Amino acid sequence: MAVPLSMPSPSRSPGESRVRLLPTETPFPVHVTPDRPTAERAVACEIAELVRSKSRTVLGFATGSTMCGVYAELVRLVREEGLDLSGVVAFNLDEYLGIPAADPRSFRSFMRHALFDYVNVPEDAIHIPDPELARFDPAGYGLRYEETIRAAGGLDLQLLGLGRNAHIAFNEPGSAADSRTRVVELDDVTRRVAESNGTAGFAVGSAPTRAVTMGIATILEARRLRVLAFGEEKAQAVAATVFGPRTADVPASLLQGHADVEVWVDTAAAAGLAPGVGES
Ligand code: GLP
Repeated sequence: MAVPLSMPSPSRSPGESRVRLLPTETPFPVHVTPDRPTAERAVACEIAELVRSKSRTVLGFATGSTMCGVYAELVRLVREEGLDLSGVVAFNLDEYLGIPAADPRSFRSFMRHALFDYVNVPEDAIHIPDPELARFDPAGYGLRYEETIRAAGGLDLQLLGLGRNAHIAFNEPGSAADSRTRVVELDDVTRRVAESNGTAGFAVGSAPTRAVTMGIATILEARRLRVLAFGEEKAQAVAATVFGPRTADVPASLLQGHADVEVWVDTAAAAGLAPGVGES
């Protein structure tokens, strides 16, 4: 299957415009960019075009350092190019349990500082899983979060990062393709990364053990999925996502059946895909 070149037109300076696609067969478009900003701007640009094309857009947001550049570009588009996000309904993928909403390490705080404090998504249109409600009534809360997404019209576009173990949101290895919003135990790999990653801010041994997350089936219902991964530490997860068997052991591989998923990676994250990818 030939991979279609479907490059949105992000603003960019000359010399950084090269976007190369994997020159082999993939189950979905994989955009390999020479650097992060090229991918970040392209994805932000696609979101902006989607928002401009509809009076109401339901967007799924993700946390993690991978998303920072996309959100910075969205903030720039709002401030400098008049992008209006007042018609956006936002749903976040996941949240830690046991971390108060106001704690700087919560995903709610992350979203405020990375995006929501600087753009005009209406406060009552921002949905981030509530760890307290999820803790007290996991089953009921999961159903209500799903129902809120459905009532909003379903997700038009969901952003996704990749864990080093190829988790998506907090769907850790072993998560079923039909899983829904629920409370989960976090994988040791995920906890170790959270404890070694400056952005997450957890001291060794203090990362949360549980989280509330949209399920794989919830994510697969989004009309568009855009996956981003940068850096060599994601290369193995990217390769397994793109070329591996479709298995619950590699949660992101379950995206392979989706009708509109695109993956954006820099050269380092593409290292496991094919020799020479990203070299000029
Ligand atoms: C957390 C989130 C994921 C995110 C991942 C990657 O585990 N639950 O949704 O994709 O972090 O984080 P980073 O972008 O910092 O590598």
